[in-house]
Amino acid sequence: MDVSEFHDHSQLYREIEIPFDFAEIFFSRTDTRGKIQSGNEVFQRISGYSWSELAGKPHNIIRHEGVPRAVFWLLWDRLKQGLQTGAYVKNKSKDGRFYWVYAIITPCEGGYLSVRIKPSSPIFGIVQAEYAALARMEIEEKLSPAESAARLMTRLSALGFETYDAFMATSLSAEFSLRDVNLQKQSRQTLALYGRLMPSAARLLTAAQQISEGYLTYRFVPLNLLVHAGQIGEAGAAIATISTNYNTLSEEIERGLDGFLQAARTVSHTISVGAFLLATSYVQREIACSFRDEVPIEGVDHATEKNFLDQQQSTYQAEALKSLTGIEDELKIFFQMVSEMKRLASGLAAIRIMGKVESGRLSVAVVNDLIMDLEAFQDIVQRGLADILQANDALRMDTSRLLEAYAAEDA
Ligand SMILES: Cc1cc2nc3c(=O)[nH]c(=O)nc-3n(C[C@H](O)[C@H](O)[C@H](O)COP(=O)(O)O)c2cc1C
Repeated sequence: MDVSEFHDHSQLYREIEIPFDFAEIFFSRTDTRGKIQSGNEVFQRISGYSWSELAGKPHNIIRHEGVPRAVFWLLWDRLKQGLQTGAYVKNKSKDGRFYWVYAIITPCEGGYLSVRIKPSSPIFGIVQAEYAALARMEIEEKLSPAESAARLMTRLSALGFETYDAFMATSLSAEFSLRDVNLQKQSRQTLALYGRLMPSAARLLTAAQQISEGYLTYRFVPLNLLVHAGQIGEAGAAIATISTNYNTLSEEIERGLDGFLQAARTVSHTISVGAFLLATSYVQREIACSFRDEVPIEGVDHATEKNFLDQQQSTYQAEALKSLTGIEDELKIFFQMVSEMKRLASGLAAIRIMGKVESGRLSVAVVNDLIMDLEAFQDIVQRGLADILQANDALRMDTSRLLEAYAAEDA
């Protein structure tokens, strides 16, 4: 870079990234409005400010304009609901240089705690490009933070993350696992197993959604069938009975579908939250340990902060375990619903056979078509349930392996 091209230092510095190690974790603690209450040496050093310049200041003192407002809107929206939040954040140091972190922010007594690690995963590269595009759009289209947050969610959904929790789970697991590799540490089997659970849960949800969409597509078949059976007269009596039975069954399916979909979403959500909480508890454990040996900074009460970090890490360790055991319970509830669906599906299969026989006998084109629709729906249900059963088996097996791996870690 030719330094003479720059007229002043601030322009030159804004292009420069502050280096720091994967081993360096930083934290800061704020009050409920985001005013800095404490932090560690790494946080203070990389920010470039003295502690007296940081203490009591709003956290936007290190805000970088490259981060879309959407990110902070989402962050505060979640924090106010008491939800832990993970986000990629670009910060600006006092001299104008920048650095990227993956921040994990959790509610704590009297405010919030943010613990940050160095990101390096492929998701980080994607997010950098997304942030740059969104920050530009916010200015060009004068988007409100809420509108911009909605766009960010649409983009995340296009990238395969149905919810922000799913994005947080995948991104933090990726960052933490890759950091282990970079630090030549043994990677955590628990996180690897969560990495297997997440796609299985997504499969479960997709299959449940396909059944639900199939129902919507074919929901008028029984009524049509009944109308046409009526037009045929006496010969259509059997088809009329078939369509009435089919209707009763599909109404039962419809009544069950909402709960069924909801249970699949809950399984998927519990897995995402569990993965994020577990990685959070690992990062918090690490900072709680490393802080003990850190050089105290003037103005920060080392003993009080140490207690804070210990407390926070034990709270989140307990939360992580609660989510983990919760997965098994959610799976049980979902499986009960699958069994009910299976019962209804076998009813459909029986009606399908009767319908086929009758339509063959009658040989009326429109009835044949409607029976084919009935068959198509039954196929969707059958295929969806087969997929769900496979995903369910994988989930159950990986969940019990995960519980074992977790117990072995603690032993
Ligand atoms: C615990 C905690 C840590 C935060 N850390 C940062 C940070 O590192 N960088 C940042 O820009 N904002 C951080 N924020 C968010 C800021 O409070 C603020 O919302 C953000 O800088 C946007 O400021 P603005 O609305 O004035 O542009 C943090 C908030 C909390 C509660």
